[in-house]
Amino acid sequence: MCGIVALIGSREAAPQLLEGLRQLEYRGYDSAGIATVDGAGMHCLRAEGKLVNLTQRFEAQGAPGQCGIGHTRWATHGKPEERNAHPHLDGSGTVAVVQNGIIENHRLLREELQASGVVFRSDTDTEVIPHLLGRELERLQAGVLSPDGRRPGGALLLRAVQAVLPRLQGAYALAVVWAEAPGALVVARKAAPLLIGLGEGEFLCASDTPALAGFTRTILPMEDGEVALLTPLGIELYDQGGERVERSPSLLSGTEHVADKRSFRHFMLKEIHEQPETAALWVARHLPDAPAGTAAGPLVALPLDGAVLEGVERIDVLACGTSRHAAQVGAYLLEQLAGLPTRVFYASEFRYSPPPLGPHTLTIGVTQSGETADTLAALAMEQERRQLVADPAYAPRLLGITNRPESSLGRMVDQVLDIGAGIEVGVAATKTFLGQLLAFYGLALALAERRLGLQAGGGTITRERLLALTAGLRAVPQQLRELIAEHDRQAEALAHRFESTQDVIFLGRGINFPIALEGALKLKEISYIHAEGYPAGEMKHGPIALLDAKVPVVSIAVPGAVFDKVLSNAQEAKARDAQLIGVAPACGDTELFDVLLAVPEVDELLSPLLTVIPMQLLSYHIAAHRGLDVDQPRNLAKSVTVE
Ligand code: F6R
Repeated sequence: MCGIVALIGSREAAPQLLEGLRQLEYRGYDSAGIATVDGAGMHCLRAEGKLVNLTQRFEAQGAPGQCGIGHTRWATHGKPEERNAHPHLDGSGTVAVVQNGIIENHRLLREELQASGVVFRSDTDTEVIPHLLGRELERLQAGVLSPDGRRPGGALLLRAVQAVLPRLQGAYALAVVWAEAPGALVVARKAAPLLIGLGEGEFLCASDTPALAGFTRTILPMEDGEVALLTPLGIELYDQGGERVERSPSLLSGTEHVADKRSFRHFMLKEIHEQPETAALWVARHLPDAPAGTAAGPLVALPLDGAVLEGVERIDVLACGTSRHAAQVGAYLLEQLAGLPTRVFYASEFRYSPPPLGPHTLTIGVTQSGETADTLAALAMEQERRQLVADPAYAPRLLGITNRPESSLGRMVDQVLDIGAGIEVGVAATKTFLGQLLAFYGLALALAERRLGLQAGGGTITRERLLALTAGLRAVPQQLRELIAEHDRQAEALAHRFESTQDVIFLGRGINFPIALEGALKLKEISYIHAEGYPAGEMKHGPIALLDAKVPVVSIAVPGAVFDKVLSNAQEAKARDAQLIGVAPACGDTELFDVLLAVPEVDELLSPLLTVIPMQLLSYHIAAHRGLDVDQPRNLAKSVTVE
């Protein structure tokens, strides 16, 4: 949550800071601010609401200086008001700080500072940092003069930050400027992302790569506990113990599609339309070329060291939100196809009520951003507790599924499946969900192939069955292309019917139950309509009481193990006057639906890759028709870096 940027170089910093914030706005948009420093002192501008308000303020007032910091906020401590916007300053107004994360012991520190006379101007946890720094700088400054009589500003700022950081508990990425050292910038991180981009005679730090993509391709991701002093001349990087660290930068990849809506009205719509490409890329990368039925080699090419899968007997998956829905589809595949008992946990729950440890367990963390604090903390906890067990059968094996292999998740796990969907800007996940689903198809097929002849939930695992599924997967990109074109039109035409809708029920069963959950989540988050996803058979046990003519029911009914049952459940809803919207193939059986969002008939196990499309487009068009900010829905942020 929240995005930070910081720049130092030889040109005016503010325009680049604002551009960086524009690229990070998906991380939060409750308020934004920048602070620049030059020989004349500190120039701080802040504005409540979206970045456009800050940009207008900058255009009116300016913020000179070649060094500065910026922030876009998702409110945690303190309401989304200007006084809580970052940067925060110390009492003298010479130290400015932006922070992403949470300082857990801020109350204690605030009390201590207040007791010594410090006056706070915001309700944020962050404000303790500039005050602590201000005090430390005052202490360090006394008597410290360089040979030419000038104060060694940058070095002093670095020392102050290094002295203050051990006092901060929690997770943070921060950037600091000091009016007395306009040629220096100090940045630090602990359990929150921060990358340094290397330009020509200038450095740009940011919470995430989109802010760096238009600036440079050469980046230095900071490690946990590191602090860096940046001047136009170079970077000094230090570890937690204060030791100097030398590390080579790396090259940024996959950022070509950054922040360009092309001709689409919203990023979300563009990203929905990019899904055939996501699927085609996945097929090209992971399904080897040999014609189905003739290949003797592996069915799926996964860029994994086989050791991580060797001898796996059970799988635990940790994830949040949409990623968790992808994991639920994945669990279905892993059990039914590969015969591996698989449990999916809310990452935020797992950490505080971990189940008993089992042997030979693969733990998978699923997070498109790779930065979700709940998921990272749950994985770290699992890793730690497994490391304490002497029996090697219990050793941690961690696999990540992410769109950001360079993220904190990527650095934490043993191996990563990169879903390669390209940057997703819309806060509501769409193409990354499809990418996660595909990653699970690949994983389940690879594990099933290792277990040929064994029993899985869906019967004996045979090569023929797996070959049929891979053939089905090859057809998915084209099916998506046709489906998206058709449903875009149909959902747009349907959206007006939801003008006064307050509740929607989504029903699905088996492998499509998580798609019902995903449909409900998408609708809730971008249209603010209350929606619930239920297993279709569960409706009669309570939720059916909600139904009347004002409550639309979206029912996913695809031929397979539960087709007839789902149709009967839909009939039950129809008998209560509910408006029935079917996501189903066009056939005699599906004539009961008032509206049919037709999907092609495919193997039931592959159907979630298609049934999710009408869910995404329906939510999108309902929200767009209501005139809502689809890409930046209220109260949300793309990357949830607080627990
Ligand atoms: C929904 C959505 C959220 C995320 C959740 C986890 O559209 O985007 O529910 O899925 O916050 O995010 P990641 O996948 O980054 O861990």
